[in-house]
Amino acid sequence: MRNLTEKNLTQAVLKRLEKTSDPRLGQVLSSLVEHLHGFIRDIEPTEAEWETGIRFLTAAGQICDDSRQEFILLSDVLGATILADAINHRKPQGATESSVLGPFYRDGARQVATAGSIAENTPGEPLIVRGRVATTQGQPIEGALLDIWQSAPNGLYENQDSHQPEMNLRGKLLTDGDGRYAFRTVKPESYPIPNDGPAGKILEAMGGHNRRPAHIHFIVTAEGYEPVTTQIFVENDPWLDSDPVFGVKDSLVVDFVRHHSPEEAAQLQIPNPFYTVDYDFGMVPAG
Ligand SMILES: [Fe+2]
Repeated sequence: MRNLTEKNLTQAVLKRLEKTSDPRLGQVLSSLVEHLHGFIRDIEPTEAEWETGIRFLTAAGQICDDSRQEFILLSDVLGATILADAINHRKPQGATESSVLGPFYRDGARQVATAGSIAENTPGEPLIVRGRVATTQGQPIEGALLDIWQSAPNGLYENQDSHQPEMNLRGKLLTDGDGRYAFRTVKPESYPIPNDGPAGKILEAMGGHNRRPAHIHFIVTAEGYEPVTTQIFVENDPWLDSDPVFGVKDSLVVDFVRHHSPEEAAQLQIPNPFYTVDYDFGMVPAG
């Protein structure tokens, strides 16, 4: 393989990839090479521009640590995450739609009893979230596990904020015999995704803002069903139509209902006024 030119180089690399032992890896790398070469032919980068690209990716790696994942943010703001999500979760009617995992998930949240709180010493507007996990035909699913996480009203997840208790605003709970779940928390607010790294540079270049509409994250798992990774969003949030990570779907936008009733609050053992949100999850059998 000598004397390769602009014209025959891509074929030469693809030929070499034919020897890849893992067929799927060979397919992935071949497609990557075709698209990467196509990208280079398309933009014809100067050497200085190519160097800028290398430095950009290097900076994305360097800013990552245990609580910061810049590559997820980059994938999110370029719409790649939600595209991969859409391809992997083509859902029938009645199934809960998925949305991005985001960069702030942590495994290991504590188990919360039904109607228990995931918020520890967190100022904010009290909120009860409740509903059912069921099949798309409405049959309740007992023992479904909801893994929940959200930011505090100051816009920070606990792993971004040294003032919050460890694993604050995270919790796992199980559905009861009727497929029901309920937990207490504080009402989420919109928040800025980190813009002090390479993903922020992309957002800035796009001329867009970095505010995600207020939401609560869920991963719902149940034996025999496809897991669902999703978010529910607060109706009327001003950022719903310009989510920087393209994660909003109508079926995930929910009314957070404000109650001002000392009697009801006393009954529910929650400060008055408070909010409630009712949301049911529809699960699809594992295929
Ligand atoms: Fe989030």
